[in-house]
Amino acid sequence: MIAVAIDGPAGAGKSTVARRAAKELGYVYVDTGAMYRAIGYTLKKQGVDLSDAAAVAAAVTGVDVTLRFEQDGQHVYCGDDDVTGFIRTPEISLAASAVSAVPAVRAHLLSLQQQMAKTNSVIMDGRDIGTVVLPNAQVKVFLTASSAVRARRRCLELEQKGTPQPYEEVLRDVEERDYQDAHRAVAPMKPAPDAVLLDTSGMDLDESVQALLGIIREKVGA
Ligand code: DC
Repeated sequence: MIAVAIDGPAGAGKSTVARRAAKELGYVYVDTGAMYRAIGYTLKKQGVDLSDAAAVAAAVTGVDVTLRFEQDGQHVYCGDDDVTGFIRTPEISLAASAVSAVPAVRAHLLSLQQQMAKTNSVIMDGRDIGTVVLPNAQVKVFLTASSAVRARRRCLELEQKGTPQPYEEVLRDVEERDYQDAHRAVAPMKPAPDAVLLDTSGMDLDESVQALLGIIREKVGA
């Protein structure tokens, strides 16, 4: 089994780049952010106060998160409910960010994430994959782009969705989220010492995918 760990800040294009590279190599793409989002969504629906770490820790023990790989990619389930279609809203991004700072939530997901890499060759993306989840991964990449580039990409996305926002506001959000992710007490986002840094600031999507494939092939000859 080959494990490729990809970490980096929000908006760097990790998931799109990782998904495309996984398809090319025939590996399973595992989006761990979706698991945090699923927990955020479910606890919010249950009315749990997400700013109360003890309440979140107590409630998460009852949430059975599973990943299933269907024709159109990864689906995330809580119990029998497929929540995949409900977790990509700004409201759930905030909920995911809140629950992901609670150690019990991270512990709850850790063995499931590790299990996925035991039974499949994977490209797994998140914030702590190379440092905590798969410290023995054969390939570790810290995929990033400047905050200005990430804010510009996000602005384009919002425009295409018909909900444009001023660049300065988007940039401020991006930088605030980076700070929070990098400074939380548990599993802060930081490159593993043995990670290869891939800065996609000057690259388009195809170039980013090719750069990632190049790093993987060099390490494992895939
Ligand atoms: O990558 P994303 O935006 O879908 O992640 C959602 C939230 O979960 C984000 O606040 C960071 C957090 N997260 C994490 O703490 N650890 C991971 N391995 C993946 C995501």
